Amino acid sequence: SSPVRRICCIGAGYVGGPTCTVIASKCPDITVTIVDINPVRIAAWNSPPNPKTGKLDDLPVYEPGLADIVQTCRGRNLFFSTEVDKAIHEADLIFVSVNTPTKTSGIGAGYAADMHYVESSTRRIAEVSTSSKIIVEKSTVPCRTAASMRQVLEANAKPGLQFDILSNPEFLAEGTAITDLENPDRVLIGSLPTPEGQLAARKLQDVYARWVERKRIYTTGLWSSELSKLAANAMLAQRISSINAMAAICEATGADVTEVAHACGLDKRIGPNFLRASIGFGGSCFQKDILNLVYLSESLGLPKVAAYWKQVIEMNEYSKERFARKVVSTMFNTITQKRVALLGFAFKKDTGDTRESPAATICKLFRQERAQITVYDPKVPHHQIYLDITEPGVIDDTEAAKKQVQIANSAVEACAGAEAVVIATEWDEFKTLDWEAIHASMKKPAFLFDGRNVVDAKTLRKIGFRVHTVGRGPEIVDPVWA
Ligand code: NAD
Ligand code: UDX
Repeated sequence: SSPVRRICCIGAGYVGGPTCTVIASKCPDITVTIVDINPVRIAAWNSPPNPKTGKLDDLPVYEPGLADIVQTCRGRNLFFSTEVDKAIHEADLIFVSVNTPTKTSGIGAGYAADMHYVESSTRRIAEVSTSSKIIVEKSTVPCRTAASMRQVLEANAKPGLQFDILSNPEFLAEGTAITDLENPDRVLIGSLPTPEGQLAARKLQDVYARWVERKRIYTTGLWSSELSKLAANAMLAQRISSINAMAAICEATGADVTEVAHACGLDKRIGPNFLRASIGFGGSCFQKDILNLVYLSESLGLPKVAAYWKQVIEMNEYSKERFARKVVSTMFNTITQKRVALLGFAFKKDTGDTRESPAATICKLFRQERAQITVYDPKVPHHQIYLDITEPGVIDDTEAAKKQVQIANSAVEACAGAEAVVIATEWDEFKTLDWEAIHASMKKPAFLFDGRNVVDAKTLRKIGFRVHTVGRGPEIVDPVWA
């Protein structure tokens, strides 16, 4: 049977865009069309190069290296379009890479994944297909979603067509999407154990095998593949909550969390990665996917399992609050009317994404304390910051936010006249700022709260800052006042 020649990706977001761009770059003989119902997003993917730099500066997703690949492939074998039906009709393999956000109302609100977008894409596929297709779940979905998709397809498609459903969850992390895609730890493909299912899985393997070693392409059953994605994110997030729980103990005892993390990570069974204490994890995936897992466990009659995973999220909420509380208590129990510079707003460095960013939570808590806040982030658009720190539905909240929260164009500008600097995202540029000049421009005592442990606390203390980091004991936080 014939290899894959035409790929359609439904959903031109953070996953669909970069993933299928890399496929197009690695497979010049495959035509890849990425479609979306959002015309603004597609227009941004098709935006022309900046006349000054010659680069694609206006793509809807910022990822190091992405713009160059889009520039090479776009118009050759990579296309961005709003013509969803046409692309489905022409494709022999379709990635479903739409959003699966946490439901905000109805049954399972606050926990369950909203499967509406996956189902409507599936219905569209059934409706417009006139040839057999391989359909690939790229979105993160609850376990057994493929069975629901199969029913929708079988009930609605034209007779005689065959639809093989595969699960191929995406493990890329934002900020490193291109390197993760070009050199993945593994590619996971789940299929039915039938000959047709396995043939479909082989065809998708052949696509990835153009640049991924075969031994890194792992094939499993459908349900294992779907569940592995939720499991991997839950375990990663659990590591962060675990180290953040240790950070609280460190601060109360004089232990240093970076030393504890290093000592634990030297054990091969634990490993050194993903043990950075922080103000808490953010991003569109961890919280959503754990809530999804909690809901799944509850639905399966496993309340103890649900409670176990829920605790990972509760610890994360506690980490953010604990940090904000520490800022207030250190600054003599009030930050009302005080100017606070918030450095970083994205949920991690090298992305402009702010979904579930802990910086936004911290900023909202500072707003409640009636501080004057100046935010600086190198990549997040200004309007996005206001969207994230205002309460939906509250009249005039944006006006109130604009009075209370200014946005600066550089870290230096944000810190001028401030009483405290709060580092909320680990952007590299914060390491090499002219901290002496910043200190000179601030009110005294000049506080610095490093929520990501990115700056060199010793050097900054020498300059005169009162430095507080996450997970280091009181005697090294401030030897004078401890
Ligand atoms: P996103 O919101 O950035 O993009 C989803 C896109 O799908 C949107 O542009 C939306 O307009 C489009 N869409 C929705 N319904 C559609 C339809 N019926 N037809 C055409 N387009 C439609 O979301 P994302 O961050 O790319 O995530 C997509 C999926 O991948 C989610 O399930 C997520 O959990 C998973 N995932 C995300 C990441 C990540 O780092 N963001 C990593 C791994 C997996
Ligand atoms: C995550 C998973 O890593 C990825 O495999 C999955 O496909 C999508 O979800 P992402 O959310 O993009 O990726 O970024 P990640 O690097 O995992 O960081 C998530 C959050 O955890 C960020 O806020 C980050 O700052 C924080 N983090 C990460 C820590 O606080 N400490 C760490 O040691 C690592």
